Amino acid sequence: MQARETFSGRFAILIAAAGSAVGLGNIWRFPYLAGQNGGAAFIIIYLICVFLLGIPLMMSEFAIGRKAGRNAIGSFRSLSPGSYWYLVGFIGIVASFVILSFYSVVAGWTFEYIYQLAVNAFQNQSPQQISNYFDMFVTGNLRPVLWQVLVMILTALIIYSGVKNGIEKFSKIFMPLLLLIIIILDARALFLDGSGEGYRFLFTPDFSKITGTTIITALGQAFFSLSLGMGALITYGSYVKKDVNLGMTAIGVSIIDTIVAICAGLAIIPAVFAFGLQPGEGPGLVFKTLPVVFQQMGGGSLFGTLFFILLAIAAITSTISLLEVVVAYMTEEFSISRKWATFSSGLAITLLGVFCSLSNGILSQYKILGLTLMGLCEYLSSNILLPAGGLCIVLFLGWFYPMQLVKDELSNQNTLRIRWFGLYHFILRYFTPVAIILVFLNGFGFFYWL
Ligand code: PHE
Repeated sequence: MQARETFSGRFAILIAAAGSAVGLGNIWRFPYLAGQNGGAAFIIIYLICVFLLGIPLMMSEFAIGRKAGRNAIGSFRSLSPGSYWYLVGFIGIVASFVILSFYSVVAGWTFEYIYQLAVNAFQNQSPQQISNYFDMFVTGNLRPVLWQVLVMILTALIIYSGVKNGIEKFSKIFMPLLLLIIIILDARALFLDGSGEGYRFLFTPDFSKITGTTIITALGQAFFSLSLGMGALITYGSYVKKDVNLGMTAIGVSIIDTIVAICAGLAIIPAVFAFGLQPGEGPGLVFKTLPVVFQQMGGGSLFGTLFFILLAIAAITSTISLLEVVVAYMTEEFSISRKWATFSSGLAITLLGVFCSLSNGILSQYKILGLTLMGLCEYLSSNILLPAGGLCIVLFLGWFYPMQLVKDELSNQNTLRIRWFGLYHFILRYFTPVAIILVFLNGFGFFYWL
C-alpha cells in the first residue's frame, strides 16, 4: 500500500472541510427551507442544532478519522477491532452514494443556469415562461443528464488527482472566490428597493410556524449542511496532521458554513421580496423564482451568472468530499488503485444519478412511498441516514470508546489546553443522543400519537 497522503496544514483542512460543508445545502436548500418554514423561527432552531449538536459531532468525526488514520469503515475497524461498529461506516458509504446521486443532478442544473443567464436567455420572457423553463428543463431527460454526467466527470478528475493536488488545491482556489461572489450578491440585494420586507422575514421569528416537522427538518439540514453523520469528515480527518487543533477547526468550519448559509439567505430572500415574489416555492426557489428576479434586476444577467457560478463552485467542493468517502474506502480496504476506485465508484454513482435525474422526467410516474426516486434519496439521506449515522458516531465516542483516548486526540496528546472537553463530553454522551432520538420520534409523529 502507498503511504497515506495528508493535507498540507491547518489552513488546508479548514478550507477543504469548509468546502465540503458549504454547498447546495447552504445556497439552494437552506434559503428554501427557511422560506417554507417561517424564516427566522426556522433559522433560530437551525442555529441551535448547529452549535449544540453539530460542532461536537464534527469534532468527533475529525477525532475518529485522525486517530485511526483510515477511511470511514476502516476507522471503526481499527479503533474497535472485532466489533460491529464498522457498520456505522457502512451507513456512511451508503449515504455518500445516495447523496451524491441526487446532489450531482442539482449541481448539473446550476451549470445549465450559468449558461442560460450568461447568454441572457430569459431577457424577453414573462415570469411564467421563466418558471416554466425550469419544469421543461428538468423533465426534458437528456439535458439534465448530460450536465449531471459532466459534474461527475469533474468530480472524478479532482478526486483522481489526490488529496493534496486535487481536493486541497481546488478548495484553496475556489473557496475564496466563492466568498467574494457571495459578498457581491449580498451588497446587490441591499441596494434593491423594497428588499426591507425580506430582511424582516429573515429576522422576525414567528414561533407559531414551528412544528415537529420544522424541528426534524432543521436538524436534518444542520447535519446535511455540515457534512455530518456519513463519514466525509472522518475521511477528511484522516488526512489531518497530528499538530492541528481539531476543536478549533470544527468551530471554524461550522462558523464559515453558517455564515455562508445566512449570507445566501440575505442575497436571495430580500431580492425575492423586492420584486413582489414569495419565498415559499420550495426546491424551485433558486431555479424558478430567482431567474425572474435577475431578469428584472439592473445588471441581472451578470449577477445571475455570478450567482449560479457560486452555486456550482459550492457544489463541486462538496461532491468531491462525497466521492472521496467511497474512494478512500475502496483503495484502503481492497487495495484497488485510486484510478480504478474513482472510475468504478464514479460510474456506479453516475448511473444511480441518471435514474434520479430521469425520475423528474420519463420515470416520474414511478413513486416510492409517494416520492420520486430523487425525492426519496434526498429525504432518506438528510432525515434518516445522516441523523442515524450521527447518533451511532456519538454513541461510539461518548459511551464505548475510552474517554481518555478521545481527550488525548482532541488535545494533541496533551499539548493543547482544551478546557471545553468536559462540556463536549457531556453533550456527546447525553445531550446529542437524546436530542437525535427525540427529533426522530417527533418526525415520525410519535408525540402526535401520544
Ligand atoms: N454539506 C454539503 C452541502 O451543504 C452536502 C454534503 C453532505 C457534503 C454530506 C458531504 C457530505 O451542500
